[in-house]
Amino acid sequence: MTVQDLRFEKITDPKEIKVTHAQNGANWKGPLSIESYVERERVLGQSGIAKKNEINEICKEFPELAPMLGIRYYALKDGNTIVSSCETLNRLGYFISPGEAQNIEYNLVVCIGGVFTPEEYRGKGYARYMIEKLTEHYDNIRDDPKAPRGIKQLTFTLYSEVGEYYKKFGFESKHVPVHTITQVDAFLKNYCEQTVFKDNGKFVEDSDYDSLVLLEDQEFRRNLLKLHKANPNAFVFTVKPDTDIYKWFNLRSSFILKNINHPQVPLTFGYSMGDKSHMLWHHNWGSESLLILKLYLNPSISFQEKNNILKELFFNAIKETKATKLKHIEFWDEEIPLEKFTDLSQIVHDLEDRSALYAQNGSLSAMRPSPTYKSEEIIWDNNTKFSWF
Ligand SMILES: CC(C)(COP(=O)(O)OP(=O)(O)OC[C@H]1O[C@@H](n2cnc3c(N)ncnc32)[C@H](O)[C@@H]1OP(=O)(O)O)[C@@H](O)C(=O)NCCC(=O)NCCS
Repeated sequence: MTVQDLRFEKITDPKEIKVTHAQNGANWKGPLSIESYVERERVLGQSGIAKKNEINEICKEFPELAPMLGIRYYALKDGNTIVSSCETLNRLGYFISPGEAQNIEYNLVVCIGGVFTPEEYRGKGYARYMIEKLTEHYDNIRDDPKAPRGIKQLTFTLYSEVGEYYKKFGFESKHVPVHTITQVDAFLKNYCEQTVFKDNGKFVEDSDYDSLVLLEDQEFRRNLLKLHKANPNAFVFTVKPDTDIYKWFNLRSSFILKNINHPQVPLTFGYSMGDKSHMLWHHNWGSESLLILKLYLNPSISFQEKNNILKELFFNAIKETKATKLKHIEFWDEEIPLEKFTDLSQIVHDLEDRSALYAQNGSLSAMRPSPTYKSEEIIWDNNTKFSWF
Protein backbone atom coordinates (compact mmCIF):
# COMPACT_ATOMS: atom_id res chain seq x y z
CA MET A 1 0.00 0.00 0.00
CA THR A 2 1.29 3.43 -0.88
CA VAL A 3 -0.41 5.72 1.55
CA GLN A 4 -0.04 8.73 -0.77
CA ASP A 5 -2.49 7.15 -3.25
CA LEU A 6 -5.20 6.61 -0.68
CA ARG A 7 -7.98 9.03 0.12
CA PHE A 8 -10.21 8.80 3.19
CA GLU A 9 -13.52 10.51 2.47
CA LYS A 10 -16.95 11.05 3.88
CA ILE A 11 -19.21 9.90 1.06
CA THR A 12 -22.67 11.33 0.40
CA ASP A 13 -23.35 10.30 -3.20
CA PRO A 14 -26.10 7.63 -2.99
CA LYS A 15 -24.42 5.72 -5.84
CA GLU A 16 -21.17 5.45 -3.91
CA ILE A 17 -22.98 4.51 -0.72
CA LYS A 18 -24.73 1.81 -2.71
CA VAL A 19 -21.36 0.47 -3.89
CA THR A 20 -20.21 0.08 -0.27
CA HIS A 21 -23.38 -1.85 0.58
CA ALA A 22 -23.11 -4.03 -2.52
CA GLN A 23 -19.59 -4.86 -1.28
CA ASN A 24 -20.28 -5.39 2.41
CA GLY A 25 -23.46 -7.35 1.70
CA ALA A 26 -21.09 -10.27 1.17
CA ASN A 27 -20.73 -10.25 4.95
CA TRP A 28 -24.00 -8.87 6.28
CA LYS A 29 -26.82 -9.67 3.87
CA GLY A 30 -27.98 -12.57 6.08
CA PRO A 31 -31.00 -14.23 4.46
CA LEU A 32 -31.45 -11.38 1.91
CA SER A 33 -30.23 -11.23 -1.66
CA ILE A 34 -27.53 -8.60 -2.27
CA GLU A 35 -30.09 -6.40 -4.07
CA SER A 36 -32.55 -6.54 -1.17
CA TYR A 37 -29.78 -5.95 1.34
CA VAL A 38 -28.62 -2.84 -0.56
CA GLU A 39 -32.22 -1.62 -0.62
CA ARG A 40 -32.63 -2.35 3.11
CA GLU A 41 -29.59 -0.25 3.90
CA ARG A 42 -30.94 2.56 1.71
CA VAL A 43 -34.30 2.45 3.50
CA LEU A 44 -32.70 2.35 6.96
CA GLY A 45 -30.45 5.22 5.91
CA GLN A 46 -33.60 7.34 5.38
CA SER A 47 -35.10 6.54 8.79
CA GLY A 48 -35.49 8.96 11.68
CA ILE A 49 -32.43 7.88 13.66
CA ALA A 50 -30.25 8.06 10.53
CA LYS A 51 -31.59 11.51 9.60
CA LYS A 52 -31.67 12.90 13.13
CA ASN A 53 -29.64 15.91 12.05
CA GLU A 54 -32.56 16.97 9.80
CA ILE A 55 -35.30 16.82 12.43
CA ASN A 56 -36.45 20.36 13.26
CA GLU A 57 -37.17 19.85 16.94
CA ILE A 58 -33.76 18.24 17.42
CA CYS A 59 -32.03 21.12 15.65
CA LYS A 60 -33.88 23.57 17.90
CA GLU A 61 -33.29 21.65 21.12
CA PHE A 62 -29.66 20.68 20.44
CA PRO A 63 -28.32 23.33 18.07
CA GLU A 64 -24.69 22.42 18.78
CA LEU A 65 -24.97 18.64 18.61
CA ALA A 66 -27.68 18.22 15.96
CA PRO A 67 -25.43 18.75 12.90
CA MET A 68 -23.27 15.82 14.04
CA LEU A 69 -26.15 13.38 14.52
CA GLY A 70 -27.39 10.64 12.22
CA ILE A 71 -25.67 8.23 9.87
CA ARG A 72 -22.45 9.01 8.04
CA TYR A 73 -20.72 6.94 5.40
CA TYR A 74 -16.96 6.84 4.88
CA ALA A 75 -14.73 5.24 2.29
CA LEU A 76 -11.08 4.69 1.67
CA LYS A 77 -10.37 5.07 -2.03
CA ASP A 78 -7.45 4.10 -4.16
CA GLY A 79 -8.05 6.25 -7.21
CA ASN A 80 -11.77 5.76 -7.83
CA THR A 81 -11.91 2.33 -6.27
CA ILE A 82 -13.42 1.91 -2.83
CA VAL A 83 -11.00 -0.41 -1.07
CA SER A 84 -12.52 -0.19 2.41
CA SER A 85 -15.58 1.46 3.94
CA CYS A 86 -17.41 2.05 7.20
CA GLU A 87 -20.25 4.03 8.74
CA THR A 88 -20.99 5.80 11.96
CA LEU A 89 -24.37 6.22 13.59
CA ASN A 90 -24.09 9.29 15.79
CA ARG A 91 -26.55 9.47 18.62
CA LEU A 92 -27.24 11.64 21.61
CA GLY A 93 -25.82 10.38 24.86
CA TYR A 94 -25.94 11.36 28.51
CA PHE A 95 -22.86 11.66 30.65
CA ILE A 96 -21.72 12.81 34.07
CA SER A 97 -18.10 13.79 34.33
CA PRO A 98 -16.07 13.12 37.47
CA GLY A 99 -16.79 15.52 40.28
CA GLU A 100 -19.86 17.06 38.57
CA ALA A 101 -22.42 16.21 41.24
CA GLN A 102 -25.92 15.61 39.88
CA ASN A 103 -25.09 17.24 36.58
CA ILE A 104 -26.24 15.11 33.65
CA GLU A 105 -25.14 16.54 30.31
CA TYR A 106 -25.63 15.59 26.66
CA ASN A 107 -22.82 14.28 24.50
CA LEU A 108 -22.26 12.68 21.14
CA VAL A 109 -21.95 8.90 21.00
CA VAL A 110 -20.36 7.79 17.73
CA CYS A 111 -21.00 4.13 16.96
CA ILE A 112 -18.77 2.71 14.24
CA GLY A 113 -20.26 -0.02 12.08
CA GLY A 114 -20.00 -1.70 8.70
CA VAL A 115 -16.18 -1.80 8.66
CA PHE A 116 -15.48 -3.74 5.50
CA THR A 117 -12.67 -4.45 3.04
CA PRO A 118 -13.56 -6.53 -0.03
CA GLU A 119 -11.76 -9.85 0.06
CA GLU A 120 -9.38 -9.05 -2.79
CA TYR A 121 -8.03 -6.02 -0.89
CA ARG A 122 -7.68 -7.56 2.55
CA GLY A 123 -4.50 -7.79 4.58
CA LYS A 124 -2.98 -4.68 3.00
CA GLY A 125 -3.64 -2.41 5.97
CA TYR A 126 -6.61 -0.61 4.32
CA ALA A 127 -9.05 -1.00 7.20
CA ARG A 128 -6.35 -0.03 9.64
CA TYR A 129 -5.57 3.15 7.70
CA MET A 130 -9.28 3.95 7.37
CA ILE A 131 -10.04 3.53 11.10
CA GLU A 132 -6.98 5.59 11.97
CA LYS A 133 -8.25 8.35 9.67
CA LEU A 134 -11.80 8.03 10.97
CA THR A 135 -10.80 8.32 14.62
CA GLU A 136 -8.41 11.14 13.76
CA HIS A 137 -11.27 12.93 11.98
CA TYR A 138 -13.52 12.78 15.05
CA ASP A 139 -10.64 13.46 17.46
CA ASN A 140 -9.95 16.69 15.56
CA ILE A 141 -13.60 17.72 15.84
CA ARG A 142 -13.53 16.91 19.55
CA ASP A 143 -10.24 18.70 20.19
CA ASP A 144 -11.19 21.89 18.37
CA PRO A 145 -10.96 24.62 21.04
CA LYS A 146 -14.36 25.92 19.87
CA ALA A 147 -16.07 22.53 20.19
CA PRO A 148 -19.12 22.59 22.45
CA ARG A 149 -18.92 20.56 25.64
CA GLY A 150 -21.04 17.65 24.33
CA ILE A 151 -18.58 17.21 21.45
CA LYS A 152 -15.57 17.54 23.74
CA GLN A 153 -16.96 14.58 25.66
CA LEU A 154 -17.57 12.53 22.51
CA THR A 155 -17.41 8.78 23.04
CA PHE A 156 -16.90 6.10 20.40
CA THR A 157 -18.54 2.72 20.65
CA LEU A 158 -18.57 -0.29 18.35
CA TYR A 159 -19.54 -3.95 18.23
CA SER A 160 -16.61 -5.97 16.98
CA GLU A 161 -17.08 -9.11 14.96
CA VAL A 162 -13.31 -9.43 14.67
CA GLY A 163 -12.25 -9.90 18.28
CA GLU A 164 -9.69 -7.44 19.58
CA TYR A 165 -8.93 -5.94 16.15
CA TYR A 166 -9.91 -2.45 17.36
CA LYS A 167 -7.65 -2.42 20.42
CA LYS A 168 -4.82 -0.87 18.41
CA PHE A 169 -7.05 2.15 17.73
CA GLY A 170 -7.63 2.76 21.44
CA PHE A 171 -10.83 0.72 21.85
CA GLU A 172 -11.39 -1.07 25.12
CA SER A 173 -13.54 -4.20 25.09
CA LYS A 174 -16.61 -4.24 27.32
CA HIS A 175 -18.03 -7.62 26.43
CA VAL A 176 -21.57 -8.53 27.41
CA PRO A 177 -22.50 -12.22 27.38
CA VAL A 178 -25.68 -13.46 25.72
CA HIS A 179 -28.31 -15.94 26.88
CA THR A 180 -30.47 -18.04 24.57
CA ILE A 181 -33.69 -19.75 25.50
CA THR A 182 -33.94 -22.72 23.18
CA GLN A 183 -36.43 -24.77 25.23
CA VAL A 184 -39.23 -22.33 24.57
CA ASP A 185 -42.15 -24.63 25.47
CA ALA A 186 -40.61 -25.80 28.73
CA PHE A 187 -39.71 -22.20 29.59
CA LEU A 188 -43.30 -21.17 28.95
CA LYS A 189 -44.67 -23.90 31.21
CA ASN A 190 -42.08 -23.87 34.01
CA TYR A 191 -41.41 -20.15 34.20
CA CYS A 192 -43.94 -17.90 32.48
CA GLU A 193 -47.05 -19.80 33.54
CA GLN A 194 -45.93 -20.00 37.18
CA THR A 195 -47.73 -16.79 38.07
CA VAL A 196 -51.16 -15.23 37.88
CA PHE A 197 -51.15 -12.82 34.95
CA LYS A 198 -52.34 -9.29 35.45
CA ASP A 199 -53.87 -9.42 31.97
CA ASN A 200 -53.83 -5.65 31.69
CA GLY A 201 -51.26 -5.29 28.92
CA LYS A 202 -51.14 -5.03 25.15
CA PHE A 203 -48.75 -5.34 22.25
CA VAL A 204 -46.95 -2.07 21.69
CA GLU A 205 -48.25 0.18 18.93
CA ASP A 206 -46.41 3.00 17.18
CA SER A 207 -48.27 5.60 19.21
CA ASP A 208 -47.04 4.04 22.50
CA TYR A 209 -43.32 4.53 21.95
CA ASP A 210 -42.95 8.13 23.04
CA SER A 211 -44.48 7.54 26.47
CA LEU A 212 -42.50 4.31 26.98
CA VAL A 213 -39.25 5.92 25.89
CA LEU A 214 -39.88 8.81 28.27
CA LEU A 215 -39.98 6.33 31.15
CA GLU A 216 -36.80 4.65 29.92
CA ASP A 217 -35.20 8.06 29.72
CA GLN A 218 -36.08 8.82 33.33
CA GLU A 219 -34.69 5.44 34.35
CA PHE A 220 -31.47 5.98 32.42
CA ARG A 221 -30.97 9.32 34.14
CA ARG A 222 -31.71 7.86 37.59
CA ASN A 223 -29.23 5.08 36.97
CA LEU A 224 -26.53 7.47 35.79
CA LEU A 225 -26.94 9.46 39.00
CA LYS A 226 -26.73 6.26 41.05
CA LEU A 227 -23.63 5.17 39.19
CA HIS A 228 -22.07 8.57 39.64
CA LYS A 229 -22.83 8.54 43.35
CA ALA A 230 -21.20 5.14 43.74
CA ASN A 231 -18.26 6.09 41.47
CA PRO A 232 -17.74 9.84 41.86
CA ASN A 233 -14.39 9.73 40.04
CA ALA A 234 -15.70 7.92 36.99
CA PHE A 235 -16.96 9.24 33.66
CA VAL A 236 -20.37 7.62 33.30
CA PHE A 237 -22.28 7.63 30.03
CA THR A 238 -25.10 6.00 28.16
CA VAL A 239 -26.75 6.30 24.78
CA LYS A 240 -30.02 8.21 25.27
CA PRO A 241 -33.15 6.15 24.58
CA ASP A 242 -34.93 7.22 21.43
CA THR A 243 -38.17 6.17 19.76
CA ASP A 244 -36.39 6.32 16.42
CA ILE A 245 -33.89 3.59 17.24
CA TYR A 246 -36.77 1.23 17.99
CA LYS A 247 -38.43 2.25 14.74
CA TRP A 248 -35.13 1.54 12.98
CA PHE A 249 -35.09 -1.99 14.44
CA ASN A 250 -38.76 -2.47 13.52
CA LEU A 251 -38.21 -1.32 9.96
CA ARG A 252 -35.29 -3.73 9.71
CA SER A 253 -37.42 -6.66 11.00
CA SER A 254 -40.28 -5.87 8.61
CA PHE A 255 -38.08 -5.23 5.58
CA ILE A 256 -36.21 -8.51 5.95
CA LEU A 257 -39.40 -10.51 6.47
CA LYS A 258 -40.94 -9.08 3.31
CA ASN A 259 -37.92 -10.12 1.30
CA ILE A 260 -37.31 -13.67 2.50
CA ASN A 261 -39.02 -16.97 2.10
CA HIS A 262 -40.76 -17.09 5.49
CA PRO A 263 -44.45 -17.08 6.48
CA GLN A 264 -45.59 -13.48 6.01
CA VAL A 265 -47.24 -12.95 9.38
CA PRO A 266 -48.05 -9.58 10.97
CA LEU A 267 -45.34 -8.53 13.44
CA THR A 268 -45.48 -7.09 16.92
CA PHE A 269 -42.48 -5.34 18.42
CA GLY A 270 -43.08 -5.38 22.14
CA TYR A 271 -45.54 -5.72 24.99
CA SER A 272 -46.52 -3.14 27.56
CA MET A 273 -48.34 -3.70 30.86
CA GLY A 274 -50.93 -1.46 32.53
CA ASP A 275 -48.17 0.08 34.69
CA LYS A 276 -46.02 0.67 31.57
CA SER A 277 -43.52 -2.05 32.41
CA HIS A 278 -42.52 -3.24 28.95
CA MET A 279 -40.37 -5.45 26.81
CA LEU A 280 -39.35 -4.51 23.26
CA TRP A 281 -37.91 -6.96 20.76
CA HIS A 282 -36.36 -7.43 17.36
CA HIS A 283 -36.81 -10.35 14.96
CA ASN A 284 -33.45 -11.78 14.12
CA TRP A 285 -34.52 -13.81 11.09
CA GLY A 286 -30.99 -14.94 10.28
CA SER A 287 -30.47 -16.65 13.64
CA GLU A 288 -34.18 -17.52 14.00
CA SER A 289 -34.44 -15.77 17.33
CA LEU A 290 -36.43 -13.03 18.94
CA LEU A 291 -33.93 -10.67 20.47
CA ILE A 292 -34.95 -8.67 23.52
CA LEU A 293 -33.96 -5.06 22.93
CA LYS A 294 -35.27 -3.48 26.09
CA LEU A 295 -36.80 -4.46 29.40
CA TYR A 296 -38.31 -1.76 31.56
CA LEU A 297 -39.90 -2.65 34.89
CA ASN A 298 -41.88 0.00 36.72
CA PRO A 299 -39.57 1.11 39.57
CA SER A 300 -42.40 1.70 42.02
CA ILE A 301 -43.50 -1.95 42.24
CA SER A 302 -42.10 -4.58 44.60
CA PHE A 303 -39.40 -7.02 43.60
CA GLN A 304 -41.94 -9.86 43.67
CA GLU A 305 -44.28 -7.97 41.35
CA LYS A 306 -41.40 -7.24 39.01
CA ASN A 307 -40.63 -10.95 38.83
CA ASN A 308 -44.26 -11.73 38.03
CA ILE A 309 -44.46 -9.04 35.38
CA LEU A 310 -41.25 -10.32 33.82
CA LYS A 311 -42.91 -13.73 33.48
CA GLU A 312 -45.90 -12.16 31.76
CA LEU A 313 -43.68 -10.13 29.44
CA PHE A 314 -41.70 -13.23 28.49
CA PHE A 315 -45.00 -15.05 27.93
CA ASN A 316 -45.90 -12.48 25.30
CA ALA A 317 -42.43 -12.57 23.78
CA ILE A 318 -42.89 -16.32 23.37
CA LYS A 319 -46.29 -15.72 21.77
CA GLU A 320 -44.52 -13.56 19.20
CA THR A 321 -41.72 -16.10 18.78
CA LYS A 322 -44.27 -18.79 17.96
CA ALA A 323 -46.49 -16.60 15.80
CA THR A 324 -43.50 -15.61 13.69
CA LYS A 325 -42.09 -19.16 13.54
CA LEU A 326 -38.86 -18.15 15.23
CA LYS A 327 -37.14 -20.75 17.36
CA HIS A 328 -35.34 -19.04 20.22
CA ILE A 329 -35.32 -16.02 22.47
CA GLU A 330 -32.04 -14.20 23.04
CA PHE A 331 -31.09 -11.47 25.48
CA TRP A 332 -27.90 -9.71 26.53
CA ASP A 333 -27.00 -10.11 30.17
CA GLU A 334 -26.75 -6.37 30.74
CA GLU A 335 -30.35 -5.95 29.56
CA ILE A 336 -31.74 -8.77 31.72
CA PRO A 337 -29.03 -9.73 34.22
CA LEU A 338 -29.55 -13.31 35.36
CA GLU A 339 -27.93 -12.53 38.69
CA LYS A 340 -30.67 -10.02 39.42
CA PHE A 341 -33.59 -12.29 38.49
CA THR A 342 -33.06 -15.46 40.47
CA ASP A 343 -36.26 -17.28 39.36
CA LEU A 344 -35.36 -16.70 35.76
CA SER A 345 -31.76 -17.73 36.36
CA GLN A 346 -32.81 -20.94 38.10
CA ILE A 347 -35.11 -21.97 35.28
CA VAL A 348 -32.76 -21.23 32.43
CA HIS A 349 -29.94 -23.04 34.23
CA ASP A 350 -32.25 -26.05 34.68
CA LEU A 351 -33.46 -26.02 31.09
CA GLU A 352 -30.56 -24.93 28.97
CA ASP A 353 -27.27 -26.40 28.00
CA ARG A 354 -24.35 -24.45 29.45
CA SER A 355 -23.39 -23.22 26.00
CA ALA A 356 -26.69 -21.30 25.74
CA LEU A 357 -25.96 -19.21 28.84
CA TYR A 358 -23.32 -16.52 29.30
CA ALA A 359 -22.24 -17.25 25.74
CA GLN A 360 -19.67 -15.14 23.94
CA ASN A 361 -21.48 -12.36 22.13
CA GLY A 362 -21.06 -12.29 18.34
CA SER A 363 -20.95 -8.49 18.72
CA LEU A 364 -18.21 -7.60 21.17
CA SER A 365 -18.92 -4.19 22.67
CA ALA A 366 -15.99 -1.82 22.82
CA MET A 367 -15.60 1.87 23.52
CA ARG A 368 -13.02 4.57 23.04
CA PRO A 369 -13.52 7.53 25.31
CA SER A 370 -11.83 10.89 25.29
CA PRO A 371 -8.14 10.53 26.24
CA THR A 372 -8.84 12.68 29.31
CA TYR A 373 -10.00 9.50 31.06
CA LYS A 374 -8.34 6.21 31.79
CA SER A 375 -10.40 3.23 30.72
CA GLU A 376 -10.90 2.02 34.29
CA GLU A 377 -12.51 5.38 35.08
CA ILE A 378 -15.25 4.91 32.49
CA ILE A 379 -18.63 3.33 33.06
CA TRP A 380 -20.80 2.59 30.03
CA ASP A 381 -24.35 2.07 31.18
CA ASN A 382 -26.98 0.30 29.02
CA ASN A 383 -24.34 -1.44 26.97
CA THR A 384 -26.97 -3.65 25.39
CA LYS A 385 -28.43 -4.55 22.02
CA PHE A 386 -30.44 -1.34 22.03
CA SER A 387 -27.18 0.65 21.63
CA TRP A 388 -26.06 -1.56 18.78
CA PHE A 389 -26.05 -0.62 15.16
C1 LIG B 1 -11.86 -7.03 9.33
C2 LIG B 1 -11.53 -6.40 8.00
C3 LIG B 1 -12.33 -5.10 7.84
C4 LIG B 1 -10.06 -6.08 7.95
O1 LIG B 1 -9.80 -5.42 6.73
P1 LIG B 1 -8.30 -5.30 6.16
O2 LIG B 1 -8.29 -4.15 5.21
O3 LIG B 1 -7.84 -6.60 5.67
O4 LIG B 1 -7.57 -4.90 7.49
P2 LIG B 1 -6.04 -4.65 7.77
O5 LIG B 1 -5.23 -5.04 6.57
O6 LIG B 1 -5.91 -3.31 8.31
O7 LIG B 1 -5.80 -5.62 8.94
C5 LIG B 1 -5.86 -6.98 8.80
C6 LIG B 1 -5.98 -7.47 10.19
O8 LIG B 1 -7.34 -7.83 10.44
C7 LIG B 1 -7.30 -8.99 11.20
N1 LIG B 1 -8.56 -9.70 11.05
C8 LIG B 1 -9.26 -9.94 9.93
N2 LIG B 1 -10.33 -10.70 10.22
C9 LIG B 1 -10.29 -10.94 11.54
C10 LIG B 1 -11.11 -11.69 12.43
N3 LIG B 1 -12.20 -12.34 11.99
N4 LIG B 1 -10.77 -11.70 13.74
C11 LIG B 1 -9.69 -11.03 14.19
N5 LIG B 1 -8.86 -10.32 13.39
C12 LIG B 1 -9.18 -10.29 12.08
C13 LIG B 1 -6.15 -9.74 10.58
O9 LIG B 1 -5.70 -10.75 11.44
C14 LIG B 1 -5.10 -8.66 10.43
O10 LIG B 1 -4.43 -8.46 11.68
P3 LIG B 1 -2.97 -7.75 11.81
O11 LIG B 1 -3.18 -6.30 11.45
O12 LIG B 1 -2.64 -7.91 13.25
O13 LIG B 1 -2.12 -8.48 10.85
C15 LIG B 1 -11.84 -7.37 6.82
O14 LIG B 1 -11.25 -8.62 7.11
C16 LIG B 1 -13.32 -7.57 6.56
O15 LIG B 1 -13.94 -6.80 5.84
N6 LIG B 1 -13.92 -8.61 7.14
C17 LIG B 1 -15.34 -8.92 6.95
C18 LIG B 1 -16.22 -7.86 7.60
C19 LIG B 1 -15.99 -7.73 9.08
O16 LIG B 1 -16.03 -8.69 9.82
N7 LIG B 1 -15.77 -6.49 9.51
C20 LIG B 1 -15.57 -6.15 10.88
C21 LIG B 1 -16.85 -5.78 11.49
S1 LIG B 1 -16.68 -5.32 13.18
